[in-house]
Amino acid sequence: MEQKLGEKEKNKLIYGDSLNVMRKYIRSGTIDAIITDPPWNEKKMFNITVKESNGENSMAQMRAYDDTWSWSGYAEKKYDEIMNMQSYSKLKDLLTALISIYGKCGFTAYMIWISINFVECKRVLKDTGSIYVHCDPKISSQIYLIMEQVFGRNNFRNSISWCYKGASEAKMCFPRKHDIILFFSKSPKAPFYCDSIRVPYKKGVKESNPLGTKCLDWFSDIPSFMNASRSREYCLVKSRTKKPLKLVKRLIQSVTNVGDLVLDPFVGSGTTVLASEILGRKWIGIDVSYFQIRKTMDRIRLESSDIINVEGNKIYEVFGEPESIEAAKHLAKKNRHKFGDWCILKIGGTPNIKKSGDGGVDGDYRFIDDKEYKKVKIQATSLQSGLATKLRDLCGIVDGENVVGGIFITLKEPSKQMITEASSHGFYVDKFGTHYPKIQIISVKDILNHKKPNFPTCVHIEDKLVETWF
Ligand SMILES: C[S@@+](CC[C@H](N)C(=O)[O-])C[C@H]1O[C@@H](n2cnc3c(N)ncnc32)[C@H](O)[C@@H]1O
Repeated sequence: MEQKLGEKEKNKLIYGDSLNVMRKYIRSGTIDAIITDPPWNEKKMFNITVKESNGENSMAQMRAYDDTWSWSGYAEKKYDEIMNMQSYSKLKDLLTALISIYGKCGFTAYMIWISINFVECKRVLKDTGSIYVHCDPKISSQIYLIMEQVFGRNNFRNSISWCYKGASEAKMCFPRKHDIILFFSKSPKAPFYCDSIRVPYKKGVKESNPLGTKCLDWFSDIPSFMNASRSREYCLVKSRTKKPLKLVKRLIQSVTNVGDLVLDPFVGSGTTVLASEILGRKWIGIDVSYFQIRKTMDRIRLESSDIINVEGNKIYEVFGEPESIEAAKHLAKKNRHKFGDWCILKIGGTPNIKKSGDGGVDGDYRFIDDKEYKKVKIQATSLQSGLATKLRDLCGIVDGENVVGGIFITLKEPSKQMITEASSHGFYVDKFGTHYPKIQIISVKDILNHKKPNFPTCVHIEDKLVETWF
């Protein structure tokens, strides 16, 4: 897809790397607000060492990431890019100073990565645009410094404390019960709609404005999911980093109007896009993880019936994932695990987080029959040889384990011998007497043609997928 996204585009959910997607697909000066929550947690930070893709149709084939930052060729390259920029001289000084203090390490690699993303965020914002960045308080001071250099000290608007309650094990410090949300505008022209986010007066206070009192820069009226873990909103999509809709809605309403375009370059489980949709804003959400894209799609589907204004059942488009065999091959070549995750999620299954050594990915597909959960084992492989043996292994597992069937996903089209082998394993028969082939082979070509497994409709993955992901 070689178009540039701008104001007139449909809502978009994009599977890809934030920096690459913004650079390649989002026009300068088209976004009204960026509301985002980048990956922060030191124990779960994302590695940026894998090479970038330059494939044509292959935004999905971006680099992989795992949960630690480290200094790498990628960080070096991005540092050089920043150093060669025409402007941002103070940002360059700041990064150089950080490197001289902390050295070339995970922390400075992260600072470079976030800086270059902020530079891109600034480019895509309109002059009247604003950005809210949700940060862990442990890193908010450093992020503030970076944002000040990118957006300008005069464009700093607030450092909001989102305060919540909850138990704490802290003994040597005050329990940490707030997050910081940094708010910058691109220029002094950016609006702030204080009336649209007024809050109710406290009891007994004189009510001088019928809309309520001004919302202060500390929010104490929005519980975190730590306290509200049984709420419907939390239970629909469990994710530790998920933010409450009420919080995100307040941020959106403070700087945008109906019809404005909101971007979240790290969309996660989709809170920003859902809130934008509910509020009648247009939106673009980006995430490098197909898990998260899928989670957002599930969330839109699940929550659409009562809150989303669904037009003809399609309020958005998803792109960035492979749309051709060539693109799927490219993804498999770049990262076999991401390829496997993508295949399994596409057919409605849930990939295991633990990957097998040979680069294959296992997962499962669940359905309910006769009031019981039934599990079908999935194996996805991009191998070009040894497929018959792998299929036989899967058949062995299905015969031995507590599963009712197996799905073998293969990049290469299956041979006749494999099809015969699969069909020799008989059927799973559900309580209505319907027969389903016990072993099914699905090729990537089938996936691209939207083929789904021939088992009863899968039980959606929210419960399992999300719990295992963060
Ligand atoms: C803290 S989570 C966002 C959670 C979100 N606020 C919510 O309510 O669900 C950060 C997200 O950034 C994504 N991410 C990490 N690196 C990325 C990259 N380079 N490009 C795009 N997304 C990325 C992760 O997959 C994760 O979903």
